[in-house]
Amino acid sequence: MTHRVLTVAGLKGGTAKTSTATNLAAWWSAAGRRVLLIDADPNGSATKLHARGDGVLLADGSAVAPIQQAPMAMAKPWDLVVVDTAGGSRDEQRTYAEGSNYVLAPCQPAASSIEQVVDLAEILKATGVPFGVVLTMCDGRRKIDATKTRQVLERVGLPVLQSQITLLSAWPKAEAAGVAVRDARTDSDRPDGGAVTAWQQVADLAAEIETKLQP
Ligand SMILES: Nc1ncnc2c1ncn2[C@@H]1O[C@H](COP(=O)(O)OP(=O)(O)OP(=O)(O)O)[C@@H](O)[C@H]1O
Ligand SMILES: [Mg+2]
Repeated sequence: MTHRVLTVAGLKGGTAKTSTATNLAAWWSAAGRRVLLIDADPNGSATKLHARGDGVLLADGSAVAPIQQAPMAMAKPWDLVVVDTAGGSRDEQRTYAEGSNYVLAPCQPAASSIEQVVDLAEILKATGVPFGVVLTMCDGRRKIDATKTRQVLERVGLPVLQSQITLLSAWPKAEAAGVAVRDARTDSDRPDGGAVTAWQQVADLAAEIETKLQP
């Protein structure tokens, strides 16, 4: 069975890998695709998020599986496989990249995040698998930071996607509830004001990645 596999990668912790992977999977599954979300993080963050929300993250026909179950799970005819990786090991990142059609590397507008993406890009380039950097957690009050980060990454020759994800409280709220960012709610249980913007950004990112994932 051949699937289109998207891996969300990173050498550093806390760069929004799980947030990005789970919400892309949620978006594609809501759009009627059969999505397998593979949780390759031993901490099981994506699996726990999915369980926390009683599975509402993914529509019927999609599923989440820990990496140990990937060989069996991948025997089914998924439209798309999304892999959430654990930050840290270069060898692991290389291995996951090699099994992918496209690798997405989230990057925050911060020096340490830029440095890890530049390091990761060396590994990815060696695999020959296409990849792109998505700027995430971009502070809307400091747009210059994202602009400069984009310039730095492009200057060293890295492909940076046009889509960008803004720093919004809807993200941790959705994570805590185990739902897609579209369904984030405030502490007083009202729809979070940033949820629509965040979900639109997920949609834009998904559409841009699809152009790269074409067989
Ligand atoms: N756009 C955003 N705006 C605000 N907070 C965000 C955003 N994206 C992610 N976060 C929050 O940042 C934290 C780290 O995100 P996440 O868990 O997705 O990172 P990670 O790279 O998977 O981390 P780890 O390396 O531990 O697996 C989480 O609390 C998440 O809710
Ligand atoms: Mg994670």
